[in-house]
Amino acid sequence: MINDKVIQLLEEMTIEEKIGQLTQFAGVFYSTSHSSTPVTGRIEFPVNQEMIDASGSVLGIAGAEKLLEIQKNHLEKNRLGIPLLFMADVINGFESIFPIPLGLGATWDPLLVEELQAVSAKEATSAGLHVSFAPMADLVRDPRWGRVMESTGEDPYLNSLFAKATVRGLQGSDLKNDSQHLAACVKHFAAYGLSEGGRDYNTVDLSERELREMHMPAYQAALDADVKLVMTAFNTVNSIPATGNKALLRDMLREEYGFDGVIISDFSAVQELIPHGVAEDEAEAAKKALDAGVDIDMMSLCYSHSLKRLIEEGKVELALLDEAVKRVLELKNELGLFEDPYRQTSVTREKETLTNSRHKELVRKAAEKSAVLLKNDNALPLSTSTNVALIGPYADNKDLLGEWSIFGKVEETDTLKDCMEKTFSHFAYSKGSEMYERNEKLLNEALYSASNADLIVLALGEGRERSGEGRSRASITLAPCQLELAKKLYELGKPIVVTLFNARPLDLTELEPYVNAILECWHPGSEGASAITNLLLGEANPSGKLTMSFPRTTGQVPVYYNAYTTGRPLPPGSDERFFSRYIDVANEPLYSFGFGLSYTSFKYSKLHLSSDQLTANESLTITLDITNAGEVSGEEIVQLYIQDPVAEVVRPGKELKGFQKIFLEAKETKTIQFEVTESMLRYYHSDLSYKSDSGTFHIYVGSSSESSKLTKLSFTLLDL
Ligand code: IFM
Repeated sequence: MINDKVIQLLEEMTIEEKIGQLTQFAGVFYSTSHSSTPVTGRIEFPVNQEMIDASGSVLGIAGAEKLLEIQKNHLEKNRLGIPLLFMADVINGFESIFPIPLGLGATWDPLLVEELQAVSAKEATSAGLHVSFAPMADLVRDPRWGRVMESTGEDPYLNSLFAKATVRGLQGSDLKNDSQHLAACVKHFAAYGLSEGGRDYNTVDLSERELREMHMPAYQAALDADVKLVMTAFNTVNSIPATGNKALLRDMLREEYGFDGVIISDFSAVQELIPHGVAEDEAEAAKKALDAGVDIDMMSLCYSHSLKRLIEEGKVELALLDEAVKRVLELKNELGLFEDPYRQTSVTREKETLTNSRHKELVRKAAEKSAVLLKNDNALPLSTSTNVALIGPYADNKDLLGEWSIFGKVEETDTLKDCMEKTFSHFAYSKGSEMYERNEKLLNEALYSASNADLIVLALGEGRERSGEGRSRASITLAPCQLELAKKLYELGKPIVVTLFNARPLDLTELEPYVNAILECWHPGSEGASAITNLLLGEANPSGKLTMSFPRTTGQVPVYYNAYTTGRPLPPGSDERFFSRYIDVANEPLYSFGFGLSYTSFKYSKLHLSSDQLTANESLTITLDITNAGEVSGEEIVQLYIQDPVAEVVRPGKELKGFQKIFLEAKETKTIQFEVTESMLRYYHSDLSYKSDSGTFHIYVGSSSESSKLTKLSFTLLDL
């Protein structure tokens, strides 16, 4: 089908049919037999059959049999034969579930993410889906916010690489002819990650400079990768809700960035313009959203109830409606739906795809690479003959898939106990505590069980019901019963290795002194338990590094590595009064961005710069040697940060500008290089011009963003 046909279709459509294309309802409304489909927001509102029949897309339902039936029924009723689009949140895999995005961030491996997302696309399309609401490209700094799990972290450069990789993996290169890929939807445009106080749906207020510098790069990277849809954010940007924000959507996203794909609202966000206080009623909300550029109204009745009247009264131009409908039809066209509304979906294909053993292997590898070793006083790795007691509420717990794994099969997921008991010759298990509630009997049983072991593996954390959308926490410590369990076990005097299953940075300050090792496992996915067992045994060597800082206490939040410099920076080691500091806690987080240990150690040497001067058209080369000084092979993530110490506006103390992930056999040395060019030194000036200034720059190379782990070099950028 060619574009002309989309135009022809537009000419034939009635206003009602057009408005239908711009409305999206949840899968639960499409058939009572599908009432078990996931809901991702409040669904109590009066949708009638006429609206369902007219709608252009469906939210959050999957499965070849179901979707074939829904599409068939729809086409039978649809006068012009316009197929439905099926969209859903396939965030960290469809049925083969990989780690939550915050864990994927810790892999520092965009190519792996691209591969994983391609698998996700393959599985999701086999189950009939056309659009995935990924990547979530929001930069995050506040672990109280339940949705930090959906982001890859606090750095704009890394987030950009992951956003791009996700789009590429999901979309492939030929959506029309390749039914194993689907359209990606970058979200939440824009700056949702800054929800004030970490409270979901809360206000966001930031300068345009900060918006462009920190938040926009990852969305832009998705646009550069040709992402087909953009989802609006729930929050305000410059005091106007993003979903009704013309400056943000029409001027910036459409005009400045040139995005001509579909803009979809978040769940009921058009209607929310009313409680936000910028629209009097549904009609005004509909007008504001359409004027701003929102094509699809997800799960609100504003467009269905009001657009026709607004057009008839001349308050909304028909051309505006047509423009939005055309975009939706073009997306259907790009997906090849007019040629094959089923996109080769079949129950057989679905079955074959979802049982592919290669997918299992890949998601296990991802879980291994996402884990971050936060502490290790020589307690790890273990041997299969270690006499081990596995204790804790996460030890025999299938809740490893993460909040957005809505199509994952929790009941088929192995627990850590399932995997460890098959592997260790001396193994005992005891729960020790409920997840959030103390239980004296369980505690005593665990103490008894641990007293007969040589080492304790303590599986702690927080489940999916404590993270994700609408699940902010004011305090981010572990549950008191889990801390008590750790302290009581400590009194036995045995080494304790903590495996932590959680979806946000936690305050681990109280736990840390009582244990010998901490392995941050995140919600690692459907093969998570076997991956963690491999890591405990050293069959896989931890290589993940944090992409979001772990605070010492909730009161430090937000704490992130790329903060702007202050006029009173605290001198290292000082506790003097009149500096920017807390009097009751250090400024630095407990575990910094870029931090993560290995079972081996890496030595950095021979670091040098090709010149101490840089011109606009040349580049500098940084060369260094990395040696694996230990006894086992491993991967190191070498990080490159740059600081502009004197600029026109205040700049971050350091910014990640490059990294390399390298594998080294034991005792092996590799020489690596980074290029530095003028374009890496550009920033937004006070007039928002994006350029560099001549002068001195500092380069920091090392294994983490912490100053003690970095070596500094300097160079001068000559006049341009
Ligand atoms: O895609 C999600 C979004 O991230 C949050 N609200 C619901 C949407 C659809 O499920």
